[in-house]
Amino acid sequence: MNPIASHFSPQTMQRFQHELNKYPTDQKQSAVIACLAILQDENGFVTAEQEKALAAVLEMPYMAVHEVFTFYNMFNQKPVGQFKINVCTNLPCQLRGGQQALEHLCHQLDIEVGETTADGKFTLQPGECMGACADAPVLLVN
Ligand code: FES
Repeated sequence: MNPIASHFSPQTMQRFQHELNKYPTDQKQSAVIACLAILQDENGFVTAEQEKALAAVLEMPYMAVHEVFTFYNMFNQKPVGQFKINVCTNLPCQLRGGQQALEHLCHQLDIEVGETTADGKFTLQPGECMGACADAPVLLVN
């Protein structure tokens, strides 16, 4: 059996194909974000093995998939809580109390940055600029 086909369910492959149909056949990599979103939708996060198998489906290097996957913090590399809180830690937000907000949330939730509360409700992450610097400090929930 094709190792790619065996890694993903027929339903997942069908969803991938729906996205791939939107692009020329020699531009499969254009569907990488949509396919990563499908995997996350199904599992809540995406494993390295899934990234590698997706790279094969899209006929692109694994590292290129990984670069996209890790660039966007909406993608999860591990299970996260019901509410994922991203606190912007870029300079404009830092100058307006972003770091203090992050530390305050760590204290209130009794977790470190990158961790999830024991009840699985909240995950706290640092985030990159969210394009709302005028409203700094900024955080995004889910
Ligand atoms: Fe925080 Fe832009 S630096 S939103």
